[in-house]
Amino acid sequence: MSIAIITGASSGLGKEYVLAAARKHTGIKEFWLIARRTDLLEELKEKLPADLCVKILPMDLNDRASLTQLSALLEEEKPQVSLLINNAGFGKLGYVWEIDPNVQRDMVDLNCGALTALTSLVIPYMPAGGGILNVCSIASFVPNVRMTVYSSTKAYVMSFSRALREELKQKRINVLAVCPGPMSTEFLTRAHISKGASKTFDTLPYCDPKEIAVKSLKALEKGKAVYTNRFLYKLYRVLGKLIPKALMMKFAKC
Ligand SMILES: NC(=O)c1ccc[n+]([C@@H]2O[C@H](COP(=O)([O-])OP(=O)(O)OC[C@H]3O[C@@H](n4cnc5c(N)ncnc54)[C@H](OP(=O)(O)O)[C@@H]3O)[C@@H](O)[C@H]2O)c1
Repeated sequence: MSIAIITGASSGLGKEYVLAAARKHTGIKEFWLIARRTDLLEELKEKLPADLCVKILPMDLNDRASLTQLSALLEEEKPQVSLLINNAGFGKLGYVWEIDPNVQRDMVDLNCGALTALTSLVIPYMPAGGGILNVCSIASFVPNVRMTVYSSTKAYVMSFSRALREELKQKRINVLAVCPGPMSTEFLTRAHISKGASKTFDTLPYCDPKEIAVKSLKALEKGKAVYTNRFLYKLYRVLGKLIPKALMMKFAKC
């Protein structure tokens, strides 16, 4: 049985990934949806085609017991995981000393730790031709003052995705890092980014999560390494490589 595993499926970009992947007719017959809010996952299940099998997995990915539970499920069902989307993540706006250290640790654990552990767990079940899509951010291109921890976690995701992609070439599995700009999702509320809180978030153009989901799934299929939406953010990515970080950081403050 060919399946897709999608984390952070209850809202925002993750929800759009579920809807886009379900529409694609890739031969994937079963979806495993992971997030903490069961009610939202159940609502989403109702919107999916009736012939798809959908497993709701209510899990806090920061709880190591969740990974043990998932490991046992994989061991029991031995599925072919054709698609893994590591999307769950969150950020916080503020200087490092203003953010609760436990929240910082949770951010690093979820954005980096859970993503790494889940990926390692799933690879043995992934056939040749499979794909891993890691949701990164434009924050990975240049360190962001006032989102220092968040941008550092996304720099990890970029580095991890690139190196893993090379490792998995021998298994014919592609790994894609998806780098959205700002999106109007619950991310903003959880990060305490309201109107007036950050000049950068007030002025930057926003990305459409639906468009990102559709286009990045295509990029994964084409074997690309990185996907960025909108001309401005593609340019920012190039400038982030060409111009010294110390200079770029002056324009990348949140
Ligand atoms: N929005 C932006 O401006 C933006 C820009 C660039 C990149 N991104 C990235 O895009 C990804 C998706 O974010 P989004 O914008 O769609 O925000 P979102 O709507 O807040 O989605 C985050 C998802 O992660 C899940 N999640 C959070 N903590 C979790 C945990 N401990 N265990 C399991 N699931 C957890 C949430 O579900 P539950 O609360 O139900 O658990 C939710 O489904 C994130 O990786 C984010 O860093 C966002």
